[in-house]
Amino acid sequence: MNDPLVYLNGAMTPLSKATIPVLDRGFIFGDGIYEVIPIYGRKPFRSEQHMARLFRSLAAIGMPNPHSKEQWMELIGKVVAAHPADDQMVYMQVTRGVAKRAHAFPQEVTPTVFIMTNPIVLPSAQARADGVACVSMEDKRWLRCEIKSTSLLGNVLAAQNAAENDAVEAIQFRDGFLTEASSSNVWIVKNGKLMGPPKDNLILEGIRYGLIEELCAAKGIPLEARRIARVEVFAADEVLLSSATKEVLPVASIDGQAIGNGKPGPIYQQLYAAYQEAKAA
Ligand code: PDD
Repeated sequence: MNDPLVYLNGAMTPLSKATIPVLDRGFIFGDGIYEVIPIYGRKPFRSEQHMARLFRSLAAIGMPNPHSKEQWMELIGKVVAAHPADDQMVYMQVTRGVAKRAHAFPQEVTPTVFIMTNPIVLPSAQARADGVACVSMEDKRWLRCEIKSTSLLGNVLAAQNAAENDAVEAIQFRDGFLTEASSSNVWIVKNGKLMGPPKDNLILEGIRYGLIEELCAAKGIPLEARRIARVEVFAADEVLLSSATKEVLPVASIDGQAIGNGKPGPIYQQLYAAYQEAKAA
């Protein structure tokens, strides 16, 4: 579908016709927030959690919420219904709106609301069978990574570093401790236990983060959230990525060094199976 219908500020419009003024603060300052919601069989997956995070992001940047949860779900439903694919990935963005350029919040501004969808592109069977290559790098982003902000230059530069090194993700470390990858959360496994960095301002709390907590509890996989040193990542039995589009994905190597035996491990296999069960439920 070349020109799907998208939602922009109150109307459904073909993507090619959807335009915003150049003074939109999303364009000028990256002053906005976003969400990415997977749709399976035309149903949003974990929509409650995505809505809660959307509302948290809006509150965190002092932006009034232009819609109720029910209105948001209705708008998402319209965009999803207009697309032929059953499995999709909805992207939604809210910016502070259009105003004369000045850094501080403008008075009486109307937020810009944009929602689009695309067929979801999941990792290939080969990536799942072999695991993926990653690179490591210093996390040089700001200290409010818990906000799902459209100001993503740090993440863009990290992703580009990965791309230039034929890697799927850039795994970042701040002061020697694991934070997250350019657009996914990172987990390690040691002696059958899954570990992830704490949910604080240094990472985005992925909707998969909460899901993995639930799946671990249900499947009896021990889970610990704590600061994880760089050496522990390289010495892990398994390293996993999680995100809306990667679901859970095994890491085979970082900077060319094999993780564990360089193959997807048993905790990955269990979590991936549990994830597919949760999608089908
Ligand atoms: N990225 N950390 C960062 C920096 C992310 O950008 C994402 C998601 C995650 C995982 O969050 P979730 O489980 O809710 O997808 C963690 C989305 C997919 C994106 O920017 O396209």
